[in-house]
Amino acid sequence: MRKNTLILISLAVLSFGLLGCPPKENGGNTTTAAGSGDILVGEYGSMTGAQATFGQSTHNGIMMAADEINAAGGINGRKIKVLSEDDQSKQEEAANAVTKLISQNNVLAILGEVASSASIAAAPICQSNKVPMITPSSTNDEVTRKGDYIFRICFTDSYQGEYQAVFADQWATANNKSKSVAMLTDVKSDYSRGLGAVFTAKFTALGGKMVGTQSYANGDSDFRSQLTAIKATNPSLLYVPGYYTDIGQIAIQARDLGITCPLLGGDGWESPKLIEIGGKALEGSFYTNHYFYADPAPVVANFVQKYKERYGQTPDALAALGYDDMKTLADAMKRATKLDGPSLRDAIAQTKGLTGVTGTITIGPERNAMGKKLVIEEIKNGQLTLAATIDPATGGKVEMNTGAPAAAAPATATNK
Ligand code: PHE
Repeated sequence: MRKNTLILISLAVLSFGLLGCPPKENGGNTTTAAGSGDILVGEYGSMTGAQATFGQSTHNGIMMAADEINAAGGINGRKIKVLSEDDQSKQEEAANAVTKLISQNNVLAILGEVASSASIAAAPICQSNKVPMITPSSTNDEVTRKGDYIFRICFTDSYQGEYQAVFADQWATANNKSKSVAMLTDVKSDYSRGLGAVFTAKFTALGGKMVGTQSYANGDSDFRSQLTAIKATNPSLLYVPGYYTDIGQIAIQARDLGITCPLLGGDGWESPKLIEIGGKALEGSFYTNHYFYADPAPVVANFVQKYKERYGQTPDALAALGYDDMKTLADAMKRATKLDGPSLRDAIAQTKGLTGVTGTITIGPERNAMGKKLVIEEIKNGQLTLAATIDPATGGKVEMNTGAPAAAAPATATNK
């Protein structure tokens, strides 16, 4: 009994030590602040588990950028060294991974996570240790509200969800369908719940109707009872803001049950595994994304070509965002007055007009990237095609891509 209490107390003291103590003067970083040797950067991600392609693609993008930066002379002569931790697609492990990177490895900054719930779990640890964290791809609005050391280089879900609703509304009009959408969200994911709420608010404000709302918990494998209830509402679209592993299964079971309408999803669909799992069941469905791999803009085309040469596969949006994330951090490191947490934080906050593969990166007052483009992709003949583009620089309208399959050329029309 006594022994247990003692263990508990020492555990509490240990964790308080990490979370609650005033940060070390150099922002928790002795090795790197010394001004010589490698600069240590931590990365935490889902290298294994249900979202494994998120972590793997992001890691590839980060490493490609780090190698390019080092080959070009590093940060004022010092090389970047990336230390990666696998959180196995679990949010508790995300917190452990970040704790380790900070307390054992003394990293100067942290890149990650992809899944918003994981970023939300780990951000407070970065914040209380004054270690800047830049998520490449967590879109839930709450992530960057965890503190002034937490940044993102992608758009938010209040932005993504609104445009999905506008797209759904325009799609229904263009296809002579009723403005009725059914929705299936993942209750265990901050991302899915948040996006569902934004979509619902905007779509109903536009005069649309949410006809059936159901939920699941990631890791479930049988979605039939929810889908049966949804089928009875006869929706024009089925909105499923989840992650690719579940989406593939949901699509297959929806078709088995006779649901024929297109599915609509968010960036969480993005994975080389999506079509592998969902196959034909996903034909004609849509999802929003951060970039389109066949965009002919030179910055995208060059990145895609270099990535293919290095990894032998087409980079997904996670790879592009991982690449941009590392480049954003390096840009800030070069501008920082000192390589410590607080100075680096200030430099990241001042990021402006940085050319990225996923668009120009400017960090706004709430530590989110401002004015990022959004694309809507359609799955046609087992391929991703460009269905629409939303570019805040040209008025933020949903511009439908009416041409031939975008990979063939016309992406230029909307992707200036
Ligand atoms: N936006 C998702 C989230 O916040 C993560 C994600 C980004 C997944 C991009 C795929 C592509 O949870």
